[in-house]
This record gives sequence, structure tokens and C-alpha cells, in this order.
Amino acid sequence: MDQHLKDPGFDSEAARKRKAYMLELFGYQAPKYDLHDDIIGMGIHRRWVKDVLKVIGHFKQGKEKLKMLDLACGTGFVTFNTTRHFPDIEIDAFDLVPEMVGVAKKRQAKSFSDRKIDFWVGDSEVPYGENKYDVITTCFAFRNFANKNLAAKNVYAALKPGGMFIIQDMTKPEKQPLRGLYLFALKYMLPVAGKILGTAKGSPRYLYNSVMLLPKNTDIARILTDNGFADVWHRYQSGGMGTVVVGYKK
Ligand SMILES: C[S@@+](CC[C@H](N)C(=O)[O-])C[C@H]1O[C@@H](n2cnc3c(N)ncnc32)[C@H](O)[C@@H]1O
Repeated sequence: MDQHLKDPGFDSEAARKRKAYMLELFGYQAPKYDLHDDIIGMGIHRRWVKDVLKVIGHFKQGKEKLKMLDLACGTGFVTFNTTRHFPDIEIDAFDLVPEMVGVAKKRQAKSFSDRKIDFWVGDSEVPYGENKYDVITTCFAFRNFANKNLAAKNVYAALKPGGMFIIQDMTKPEKQPLRGLYLFALKYMLPVAGKILGTAKGSPRYLYNSVMLLPKNTDIARILTDNGFADVWHRYQSGGMGTVVVGYKK
């Protein structure tokens, strides 16, 4: 299929460097990741995850049992929010960074041991099955994948026919003055907050860079259509600071 945006390649130096950086950054941040998210994000991610839950709830209507994958699950923010709202959904969840998965597993053992959730360490760019899932989510993570087409292809293969893929991520507002104000805050104010909180060296800079790296909201939708997804739609969150993009496997 003709691709709108090119991947650097699984074995490329760019992909290897990106993954090494992810391992270092999130390996360091894992123990404080949830706390820092709450403080730095000022709770906005909690509002945004509700949009994801709404899409899942709508999809779930009239369906018996759903199996979901939370891709790049981190410490399980979306996994646990989903199981809280929809206790009957069976969830698989994986992430590249063992320390993040470690935090998620501890939390599961403490508060969600009665739920069907399976966490493991894995790479979104390596295939993880065919026709297995009704829903796949990836939140605050798509921008981190070096090979976005490859990640989308793996999702497509892993979904059952009729299955739904939800990408939620931080994006760049397209309209001024919000765009300017937001990028200014990310570039200049976030590093100050990061210093106070003691986040990993360079991590606030990472957030700015990763948002800048992200294709335009509409281009994320194009990645999905380029890789076989149908009926793709997207919805802005908070004026475009976040976006939810949804596509279906027919
Ligand atoms: C900002 S965190 C978001 C975590 C979680 N989804 C959430 O909503 O809190 C981004 C996550 O993407 C993961 N990640 C980055 N590249 C990945 C890859 N190639 N495969 C799987 N996970 C990846 C990182 O390890 C990190 O945990």
C-alpha cells in the first residue's frame, strides 16, 4: 500500500536510538510517572481518558464479551481506567519498558487482582498476533513509535474483523493563539516544573520534542487509512492539545 509518511525502518539507527531513549527515560521515570503526570498534566489526562472510555462504551453496546489490548500501556493508566468502568472486558497490555510494566503489575496485584488483565514487556513494532482483539488502544504513546506504519500494521493484524483501534495522543493545536501559547508552555515552562519535580534529565524537553515530532492530527488518520483501516475519524481534545483518532478493521 502507498504510504503517506515513511518509516525509517525497524533496523534503522533512528529506531534503535528512539527505543534506547525510551528505555532510559521511562526506566528512570517509572516509579514517579503517575504522580508527575498528575502534577504536570494538571489532571487533563484524566479528562482525556474519559473520551477514550466513551468511545469504548459506544463500541461495546450490544456486544457480549470484548477482548482489548492496551498497547504501550506504561504503568497501566488506561488499562486500569478501562477495567474500572468495564469490569467484564478482558485486557492484555504491554510496554517496551520493563520498569513501567513492573509498576503496572504491582498495582494490579494490589488493587485489581480479581480482573482478567495480563501485562508483559513487548515492542509495538514486533507482531503480537492475528485476529485476537476487539479493541486496541494506545494512549500518549503513538508519537513515540519510530515506525508508525509498522505499528499500525501490527495493530491491524491483531484486530478481529470489525475491531476498533483508538489512538489518543498529545498533539499540536492548529489554531492560534492557543497553538503558540501551548508550545511556549511546553518549551519554556515545563522544564521549570520538571526541575522542581526532579523528572529525568531532558524529559520535559522530550515532551516538547515528541509533540513536535508528531504528524498533524489529520496525518495520524492518514497513517491508519494507508494501512487498511476504514471509517477513520478524529476528534480534538481541549482545542487540539490532544486528539483521539479511531479506525476499524473491516
Ligand atoms: C507517555 S507513556 C504513556 C503510557 C500509557 N499509555 C499512559 O497512558 O499513561 C509512553 C509509553 O510508550 C512506551 N513505548 C515507547 N515506544 C514503545 C514501543 N515501541 N513499544 C511499546 N511501548 C513503547 C513507553 O515505554 C512509555 O511507557
